[in-house]
Amino acid sequence: MTPTLSSRRLLLVISGGIAAYKSLDLIRRLRERGARVRCVMTRAAQEFVTPLSVGALSADHVFTDLFDRQDEHDVGHIRLSREADLIVVAPATADLMAKLAGGHADDLASAVLLATDKPVLMAPAMNPRMWSHPATRRNRDLLAADGVRFVGPASGEMAESGEAGEGRMAEPLEIVAAIEGLLGEGRRLAGRRIVVTSGPTHEPIDPIRYIANRSSGKQGHAIASALARLGADVRLVSGPVAIADPAGVTTTHVETARQMQAAVEALLPADAAVFVAAVADWRTGNAAGEKIKKVTGSAPPTLTMIENPDILMGVGHHARRPALVVGFAAETTNLIANAQAKLAKKGADFIVANDVSPASGIGGSGVMGGDRNLVRIVSATGVEEWPEMTKEGVAERLAAFIADRLEAVSA
Ligand code: CTP
Repeated sequence: MTPTLSSRRLLLVISGGIAAYKSLDLIRRLRERGARVRCVMTRAAQEFVTPLSVGALSADHVFTDLFDRQDEHDVGHIRLSREADLIVVAPATADLMAKLAGGHADDLASAVLLATDKPVLMAPAMNPRMWSHPATRRNRDLLAADGVRFVGPASGEMAESGEAGEGRMAEPLEIVAAIEGLLGEGRRLAGRRIVVTSGPTHEPIDPIRYIANRSSGKQGHAIASALARLGADVRLVSGPVAIADPAGVTTTHVETARQMQAAVEALLPADAAVFVAAVADWRTGNAAGEKIKKVTGSAPPTLTMIENPDILMGVGHHARRPALVVGFAAETTNLIANAQAKLAKKGADFIVANDVSPASGIGGSGVMGGDRNLVRIVSATGVEEWPEMTKEGVAERLAAFIADRLEAVSA
């Protein structure tokens, strides 16, 4: 096992849910990778797993009580909250999320979370109705705005009720990947310039009407953020989206495919370029300079479409081609064959292929605009399947993958 977390100190907060049993496996997986894991358990967590088993697996004292005089004397909750590199809450119950969102600190777990100056990663686990309740959604958004990071929850059947839906805790290995991503194995991409495209393009019909698509920009923006967290100098070229510019990234806003192409080419040379944007394949060849007026009784206007430049293909075959060129492909049929054909044609090193067919389980409208994604990495050497994850999860893992590939190219 590669010690990817060697000498990393993690504080694992276990709150009370049936998923607490998975925390035992999580501790084991983290220690296998060299991490030092110290645990805090809420009172409810101790109804599901015992401090004895948690202590045996973590090989450390387990902290359970804010008012334990010995613990407060020996370590103290403030020190406990600061000594770790990262605090992981797994499982994070609706109650603990609500407490932190509201700034409560009436037990050790909430006090530690409120007192820390370290990043916090939560792996929520709860009944699907509790997860989709507006109060929980609100708390999740508040916590995310406060900088708390999330992994999962996943969809699936609940252990206790058999009910299906979103709310199952992310699998231990997915949490490990999120931790590795967050701790960033340092700033592996420091000194690298990476261009990312994101969002849709708008192709005008006249000054007020345009042709667009359902891309939200969520995946592309998440990738830009994840690359920036690894230290890259990220230049994001975004089509019109409703989400905020990612922090720590330089963003250029464009509308049309041709503007996006010009912005991307002006950013070369770069070490890598990641093309996530859903660029319109066509624009109207006869965009009107004035608003087209409706004339009752006469024939509606005809739109003539002409092909847009392929930005990825242009960069893939460019004289100043970046060392690593990554494309995306949204397919409903022949996912792998189509992605492989795109690789060669567009001059990409690998393609992140999305299955947007209803059979993918996420569904066409599910990926476009939604929060989750199911991807495969298609390169000349083969196909790598990734499990279904949140778009942040895909971004985190892709950033690490890009860092690996760039290191391999420069080696
Ligand atoms: N892309 C681009 N410029 C375009 C069209 C696509 O840079 N004008 C990029 C996208 O950002 C994505 C990749 O190319 O990384 C794949 O786009 P897609 O639309 O799936 O491929 P197409 O070549 O349009 O193929 P098809 O429409 O046949 O699926």
